[in-house]
Amino acid sequence: METREGPLMKLKITGGRRLEGSVKVSGAKNSILKVMAASLLADGCCIFSNAPMITDVSTMIGVLQGLGAKARAESGRIVVDPSSLSGYEPPEELVREMRASIQVMGPLLARLGRVRVRQPGGCDIGPRPIDLHLKGFSALGAKIKEERGFIIAEARKLVGAEIHLDLPSVGATENIMMAACFAEGTTIIHNAAREPEIVDQQNFLNRMGARIIGAGTDTIKVRGVRRLEGIDYTIIPDRIEAGTYMCAIAITGGAACVENVIPEHLQAVISKLREAGIDVQPRESSIWVSAGQRPAAISVRSMPYPGFPTDMQPQVTALMSIARGTSIISETIFPNRFRYVDELHRMGANIKLEGRVAVVEGVESLTGADVEAPDLRGGAALILGALAADGETEISGVQHIDRGYEDIVGKLRGLGADIRRVG
Ligand code: UD1
Repeated sequence: METREGPLMKLKITGGRRLEGSVKVSGAKNSILKVMAASLLADGCCIFSNAPMITDVSTMIGVLQGLGAKARAESGRIVVDPSSLSGYEPPEELVREMRASIQVMGPLLARLGRVRVRQPGGCDIGPRPIDLHLKGFSALGAKIKEERGFIIAEARKLVGAEIHLDLPSVGATENIMMAACFAEGTTIIHNAAREPEIVDQQNFLNRMGARIIGAGTDTIKVRGVRRLEGIDYTIIPDRIEAGTYMCAIAITGGAACVENVIPEHLQAVISKLREAGIDVQPRESSIWVSAGQRPAAISVRSMPYPGFPTDMQPQVTALMSIARGTSIISETIFPNRFRYVDELHRMGANIKLEGRVAVVEGVESLTGADVEAPDLRGGAALILGALAADGETEISGVQHIDRGYEDIVGKLRGLGADIRRVG
């Protein structure tokens, strides 16, 4: 799978075009990566539809192959056959590249009783420890060791336990849910994360034969079973990709429809955009967005779901950079998530950082500049700035953007943007 056109790794955008028409959202990155990991628990083959063709999915395919499983992408679907699973150590370079690789830990522990991983990497948006994942495995009976930068978890058998997460970590909730599927007895996860992708994972595992209830609330119960079977499964739409296009439409003063969404998953984003004076009309599986003038300034605080998603913080800051008035944007989840702000400055934005808070003085317009995407969502924020800016912007570091946005160039061109890849 290749979402890039060879070495054309910069984006050239001429701003100032109103986005119009419609755009179709792909399957959720943060869902597909986890259910691919969960498919290691199956006795047979799993086939995922509505899978996004993004490089993080290619990386997860590599991780599963590195463990001896068969995994491939074919025409919008991902096929995983774990019957030849043999390894307990995901390839080190892939774990370093993509933090979500550690989501194979729970399934490997459940299936093979052993897993060894390098301390993970991923987008550089702040320290991202995995202590909560390990505490959960340990509560289920695993022994955890650290050796020269590697973490080893081992268990002859896992036994259900009550686990209290210190904070509602998405990854830890999912990893513990997967590890607990074959544990003896019942596992209860308190203070669990409530993200829609966790509900998707519960639905997937239950369709395979697991007995899990409570995903979407802060208490999840997993009753251990002996086996899970391979199934066909359709991934939920990507709420962050949808939110990004909603902001793209808004920042250009456009009017367009974002299709293939579950509006309920976007409630925090919808209400903030409305507060900014943007007309947002959710329908059954689409959202109509229309923005006539510059948005009004708003205050936003990133919070665990159902709060405003940290993965939308950069995009909404970009939108507020051209708002009428002063916006306060607080980041409570990842401290390093403002690295794109320096790049928005090059485009004429007026944003002051005070620790985890950005004070955004809206300017009348941005100006095209050469900028570099520091990470996935920061890169999306720069695209939004460029779409609204006068003149031409060249964005490098596009490999970060390709990790999580399927065909972003094609989709934005479909909405009328002047965007292309250049060398
Ligand atoms: C997932 C998402 C990411 C999103 C984030 C928060 C995927 C692949 N990624 O990341 O896009 O931004 O949720 O919605 O689904 N923490 C600890 N110890 C741990 C685990 C986490 O201290 O063991 C802290 C983190 O440093 C962070 C907070 O908990 O400050 C939330 O992290 P978490 O919810 O685990 O995020 P991810 O699962 O890594």
